[in-house]
Amino acid sequence: MTTLKRRLDEVFHIGNGEGANRVGGTPEEDDACRLAVEWMEESGLEVEVDGRGNLVGRLLGSRPELPEVWTGSHLDSVPAGGKFDGALGVIAGLEAVVAVGPSERTLGLVVFRDEETGCHGSRWRVEKTKPLPGAYVELHIEQGPKLERAGAPLGVVTSIAGIVRAGKEFAGKADHAGTTPMDARSDALTAAAEYVLRVRDVASGIEGAVATVGQLDVTPGAVNVIPERVTLSVDARASDQERLDRLVAELGLENALYVIPPVVLSERVRGVLAEAVERAGAQVVELPSGAGHDAGVLAAAGVEAGMLFVRSLNGGASHSPDEHSSDEDIALAVEVLTASLRRLSKSK
Ligand code: HGY
Ligand code: MN
Ligand code: MN
Repeated sequence: MTTLKRRLDEVFHIGNGEGANRVGGTPEEDDACRLAVEWMEESGLEVEVDGRGNLVGRLLGSRPELPEVWTGSHLDSVPAGGKFDGALGVIAGLEAVVAVGPSERTLGLVVFRDEETGCHGSRWRVEKTKPLPGAYVELHIEQGPKLERAGAPLGVVTSIAGIVRAGKEFAGKADHAGTTPMDARSDALTAAAEYVLRVRDVASGIEGAVATVGQLDVTPGAVNVIPERVTLSVDARASDQERLDRLVAELGLENALYVIPPVVLSERVRGVLAEAVERAGAQVVELPSGAGHDAGVLAAAGVEAGMLFVRSLNGGASHSPDEHSSDEDIALAVEVLTASLRRLSKSK
C-alpha cells in the first residue's frame, strides 16, 4: 500500500460512524491536523500554525523574498463524508511538495480549517494575515459526474461558483393541535414549508443556479403543538454574480451569514496545469466547479489560484462514504500536481 493510500485511510478512520466524521472545530478535525503536522515535520517542512489553527508547512526556497507557492486543502469533513474530499489535496499535496524539493520559491503545504461550514479558515487567513502566497494550486476530487462521463481522469478547473449561506426564521403561535381550528392557526412550519418549495422553484428557474435547505429546526417540536418557530439554512449558489444576485433578491437572502463570490481561476495557473496534464499523456478537460473551495477564497483575495480535479467514480458521489477515486487517477494527479508546482516554483 502506498504512503498516500495509507495516510488517506488513517485520516478516514478518525472518529466514529460511517464515512469521514471530522466536522470543523471538533476534536476529530484536530486529530487529523495533528497527523498532518507529524507528516510535515517528518518531511522536513517548517510548520506554522496561525491564529485560526490553519497549518502552513514550508519547504524554504533559495529566494525566500519571492512570493510563495502553496498547495493543500482542508481536513474537516461533512458528517458521514467521503475519504477524498479535502484530505486528498493535503496528503497528495505533501507528496508533491516533497517530490519537487527545495526550489527558488518557498513551497507551502496548507491545511485550511473548517472549510465545509464556510471556508472559515481560509477566509480568516485572507482577512487577517499578510502576505498571501503568489500562487495556489489545490488538488480535489471532482465531487460530480462530469469527468467520469467524459472518460477523463483529470480536469482543470476554470471557475468556482459563488455561494451565499443564510439562515431564515419563521414565527408562529404555539397552540393545541387538537382544539385549534385550521383557520385559527399561525403555523410556523407550514410557512417554512412554502418557503422551502420556493427555494426549489426559484433556483430551478435560473440557469446555472442551485439552492438547498439542508437544516431545519422546529420549536417546540412536540407532536401535538402547532409549531411556534422554525429556523432553516439556505445554501444558494450560482456560476456568476448576476445569477447569484437574482437568487439573493428572489429568496430574500440579503442578511446572509457570508458570501463567497464566484471566481474565474488564474489563466496562468490553468495554463501550467493544462500543460502538465498534456505532458502526462492525459486529455485536457476544463470544467467549472459547482462545489465551493478554499481556492475560491484565495482567488477572490487576488491570489493566482488554480484547481486540479481528479475523476469522481460512482457517478460522482460525494459528501458520502461512496465517494471514490481510483489509485491510477490519483497517481496521475500527483504527477501533474508535482510538475505544476515545479514549474510555478521557479522565479519566472
Ligand atoms: O459545500 C461545498 O461546496 C464544499 O464541499 N465545501
Ligand atoms: Mn472540499
Ligand atoms: Mn466538501
